[in-house]
Order: sequence, then structure tokens, then C-alpha cells
Amino acid sequence: MNCTLAKLRAHPKSIEIQKYLSGKLSEKRYQHVLSVQEMSIDLAQVHGANTWHINLAALLHDSAKWMSVQELHTEIKRYEIRLDPIEKQNPSLLHPFIGVKIAIEKFAVTELEILEAIRNHTTGSPSMGMIAQILYVADFAEPTRTHKEVDVVRKLAYTDLHRAVHHVARAKIVYLLEKGVLIHPNTLHTYNRTLKGGEI
Ligand SMILES: [Fe+2]
Ligand SMILES: [Fe+2]
Repeated sequence: MNCTLAKLRAHPKSIEIQKYLSGKLSEKRYQHVLSVQEMSIDLAQVHGANTWHINLAALLHDSAKWMSVQELHTEIKRYEIRLDPIEKQNPSLLHPFIGVKIAIEKFAVTELEILEAIRNHTTGSPSMGMIAQILYVADFAEPTRTHKEVDVVRKLAYTDLHRAVHHVARAKIVYLLEKGVLIHPNTLHTYNRTLKGGEI
């Protein structure tokens, strides 16, 4: 194990979050989170991002994934979060909102780049910073994932993060098109912005 990863996992704050997650999430989901954590920290080291921030973003990104759709909607109501019409129809878009609330209220996370990474990890966003981009890519391409395109994204993640982000958005759009369901505008904006090769 990479010594940075071992040190970050042994930090009291990480231990507190890891305990919470292992008690709440399914074993499969918890292993996914640990894989995202490992790949994200690797990528942060390669790209010169803050490893502590990516550690917290990765650990907390699916922290609300144990809730039922009904529980998520109850929390959305309680926090008076306004959903757009696509978020209202797709339950898999709800957990990032409550993940942000868990990060703030349960684990006292205040850094905006961590919170925006958690918030945008499913749909992406054209304004994602480095931490959010790393989380978006690692969530898609961590070693236990078997999606189509996962190999190309894994390689690009280490050499060209923008292109990796583009491929993730593209793969998600293709998947949603094939399923015949709504595509969130943030995913399309992420695809468009990275297609131009500009900074996102
Ligand atoms: Fe997620
Ligand atoms: Fe995830």
C-alpha cells in the first residue's frame, strides 16, 4: 500500500468516517469507496492536488448511498433543497446533495473544493476544480469497476485528466442514451467543455 494512503487512512478523522461508512454501507459499496479513495489519492499525487482534500471527498462522496429513495427525499425536503426536473425524476442523482450535508454536519467539512467534488461526482459539472475532476474520474474508473471504456479512462486519468473527464462524460451520455432516459445538462456541459480542450 502506498504510504500516503496508509497515513491518510490512519488519520483520526478518516477512521471516524471509515467507521461510519462501514456501519452504514453495503460491503460492496464500502469496498468501492475504499477503491475510489486509493485511486483518487494516487491521482492527486500524480497531478499535484491536495491529498487530504481528495481523501475526504473520496471517503464522503457516497456517504448518503445507504438511504432509501424515500429517506433521501425526506432529507431533501428537510434541507429545503430545490431539485431541477431531471433530479426529481432520477433517484440516483439525490445522494450527492445529502452527502454534502453529511460532510458538513456530521464531519465538520468546510472546504468548498471538497463539498463541490461530492456535489458534482455523479453528473459532473463544467466548472469542476481539480479535486472534483479527480473524484469524477476515480468514481468511474476505480479498479472494481467494469464499465465499457474503463480501461481507456484509467490510462488517461494519469496522463491527461481533462481528456479522462471528457471520456467519462461521453461514456455516461452513451449509457443514458442507450437506456433511453433523461440526460442531466451538467453531464452535457461537462462533455462540451472538455471537447474543446479548454480548462474546466
Ligand atoms: Fe455516487
Ligand atoms: Fe461512488
